[in-house]
Amino acid sequence: MASRIALVTGASSGIGAATAAKLAASGFTVYGAARRVDRLTGIPGVIPLAMDITVEDQVSAAVDRVLADGGRLDVLVNNAGFAQYGAVEEVSIDAARYQFEVNLFGLARLTQLVIPHMRQQGSGTIVNISSMGGRIYTPLGAWYHATKHALEGWSDCLRVELEPFGIRVVIIEPGSIATEFGEVLARHAPPADPNGQPSPYQGLADKVGRTMADPDFQRKSSPPTLIADTILTAVTAQQPKSRYMAGYLAKPMWALRRFGGDGLYDRAVARILK
Ligand SMILES: NC(=O)c1ccc[n+]([C@@H]2O[C@H](COP(=O)([O-])OP(=O)(O)OC[C@H]3O[C@@H](n4cnc5c(N)ncnc54)[C@H](OP(=O)(O)O)[C@@H]3O)[C@@H](O)[C@H]2O)c1
Repeated sequence: MASRIALVTGASSGIGAATAAKLAASGFTVYGAARRVDRLTGIPGVIPLAMDITVEDQVSAAVDRVLADGGRLDVLVNNAGFAQYGAVEEVSIDAARYQFEVNLFGLARLTQLVIPHMRQQGSGTIVNISSMGGRIYTPLGAWYHATKHALEGWSDCLRVELEPFGIRVVIIEPGSIATEFGEVLARHAPPADPNGQPSPYQGLADKVGRTMADPDFQRKSSPPTLIADTILTAVTAQQPKSRYMAGYLAKPMWALRRFGGDGLYDRAVARILK
């Protein structure tokens, strides 16, 4: 039987790189997409595709290339993403829009281009990488959480839309995973003195930064291979679950909010900050 064909976005780093490698090692024909193509060439068995998820021409060229080569696409892993942290008052609306362009609209456009082909095949699996942050929230993460909460609802609707066509939609909710995510988050944070004035949120930003940089937190974060294994389980299951939650802190944080309510959750998060 011909190998199943997979396209993984954000394959140049972290969860995407681990997933592309895992699927390739498990017999899938894997296309890995990202802006840093040089990083993709190092992943054994992965065919690199240059793609900025926010650039329509690059997104459609990637889909065309996969279909021209193999005539089908069996698995789409929508993984590319980053976190725009910062106070709502201080993150520009342009930066917030860009956060949505990358984390929601980019993957939505890619998914729109893939659906007709999966519909014709009568099969396919679309895996959307959300986050525990799609169910909970953290201080200064308003725009990031907004994209992931949106992705959760969007994916639920997509699942019921596509189920009659034999296409599965799976949501993955990683906890804290040791990748370049934290470095990219720090790069996008607003300056300490926007408008030339000290930020009223600097104390909170310092606490969030210290908590994320804490060696104990870093050490306990799960490896990206844990999420790659979860994705492999989902895409090879006869009946995949609609959601898979995995990785450090994901289940306890979700349980805290679910059973403790927002009041208890707010107080617990405030206490966790260093
Ligand atoms: N690490 C965590 O703790 C964690 C927890 C929950 C959820 N997640 C989610 O997991 C996914 C992967 O994150 P990660 O932790 O593996 O972070 P990462 O190591 O920073 O990897 C992010 C990937 O996304 C790609 N990307 C970012 N912007 C892009 C754009 N405009 N166009 C195309 N690709 C873009 C990057 O590729 P290029 O820069 O080369 O384009 C990179 O391959 C994200 O959706 C993130 O929200 C992560």
